[in-house]
Amino acid sequence: MNHMFDKKIYLQRRDKLRRKLGDGLVLLPGNREAPMNYPDNAYHFRQDSDFSYFFGIDRPELAGLIDCGGDGDMIFGDEPGIDDVIWTGPQPAVKEQALKCGVRKTFPFASLRGYVARAAAKGGKVHFAPPYRGETKILLEELTGIGASELRDRASLELIRAIVSLREIKESCEIAELDRAALTGYKMHTAAMRLCRPGVYEREIAGALEGIALSEGGLLSFPVICSQHGETLHNHYHGDKLKAGRLLLVDAGCETDTLYASDNTRTLPVSGKFTGRQKDVYNIVLKALADTSALVRPGVTYKEVHFKAAGILTEGLKELGLMKGRVQDAVENGAHALFMPHGLGHMMGMDVHDMEGLGQLHVGYDEAVRPLGQFGAASLRLGKELKAGFVLTNEPGCYFIPALIAKWRKKRINRDFINFDKVEEYLGFGGIRIEDNLLVTKTGSRILGKAIPRTAEEIESRMAE
Ligand code: GLY
Ligand code: MN
Ligand code: MN
Repeated sequence: MNHMFDKKIYLQRRDKLRRKLGDGLVLLPGNREAPMNYPDNAYHFRQDSDFSYFFGIDRPELAGLIDCGGDGDMIFGDEPGIDDVIWTGPQPAVKEQALKCGVRKTFPFASLRGYVARAAAKGGKVHFAPPYRGETKILLEELTGIGASELRDRASLELIRAIVSLREIKESCEIAELDRAALTGYKMHTAAMRLCRPGVYEREIAGALEGIALSEGGLLSFPVICSQHGETLHNHYHGDKLKAGRLLLVDAGCETDTLYASDNTRTLPVSGKFTGRQKDVYNIVLKALADTSALVRPGVTYKEVHFKAAGILTEGLKELGLMKGRVQDAVENGAHALFMPHGLGHMMGMDVHDMEGLGQLHVGYDEAVRPLGQFGAASLRLGKELKAGFVLTNEPGCYFIPALIAKWRKKRINRDFINFDKVEEYLGFGGIRIEDNLLVTKTGSRILGKAIPRTAEEIESRMAE
């Protein structure tokens, strides 16, 4: 049986949800097995994060119901038969697992349909979150009569808001898990520093990192990014051989068996020493990370922090001759986005981009801070005011993306702020990103787990060991 928190935690979470919603039925389908290439050959099972948050049981083919009106909490799932025992081994009864999260009522899965139909016939609201897997869409279509393609739009906004307001503030038991995930993240990144040298293939390092995540008892929190083409933001190709003089961008994280994530990036010089030009750009990104991490505290918006990073990047690139003009004007016009076309960071928790499936607008923004349309800032996943208990990533970067540089040059985009001739000297440079995971405390923030070597000197000396 998987590790779970004390049942009090799940009882409290469901009580809070009930109080926030007032009435109706909350339907929380767990995940089913997801076949890889034929029905009986499934990917490693990954539970739905909302289901896990409220019920904690890491087992496929379950659904939870929270009846805000009176019937209490229920779990629907089938007890294993002899075939299940023969093929997958003895398993605890659903009833027994349900007790671990404080649920006394369990029913066969097939009775879910009748229960939901009776509640709906009485005029009760059935709340469900936007589904992201085909199997869940089929189940919800059967249960609610809403067509699969409409389900995401017709999900309960009240439920989405209630879940976000609970999950965004991490409880102390969750922070302990996030710290644990971060320690595995530390092992993964220091292993990459040990393994990175000319002649090694990217995939050898990527495979070793995935192995560390698995050996600690969980999965990766997202597919490893381990590439000399760091300028491709989510590059999942690992087939190249490392060459002296190049940079290797490693963005990797794990999740614990309780599903809490880590997500760090380090950029390494393949030869073990940064060149002068690489170090210049590296130190700008590092300054953006360090100075903005110092700003993180309750009451500031992450949008402000994002633009502070944009200013530091612009300032630094001006000193290198890559940008020109007034820093403030360049940032207002989004010129820095040629080099950093992504947001500064995102919420993190049971999902690496926490709760992104519920809709970014509801997770990263609020009435006061609305999403931005400008290229680059439009990819900012977290803009709203920070609160103590948030866990987020800070991940500034600087990339030289040939297609984007060519496009801007051709279309004369932001030509008042970019020295295109100079920028073109950097084609082939790759990209640099440095990413830390922060817990917002009452007075500031702290890095989760153990600080991974971060300055150019720390990385060089770790690689030399
Ligand atoms: N690992 C993906 C990201 O940093 O957002
Ligand atoms: Mn990352
Ligand atoms: Mn990230």
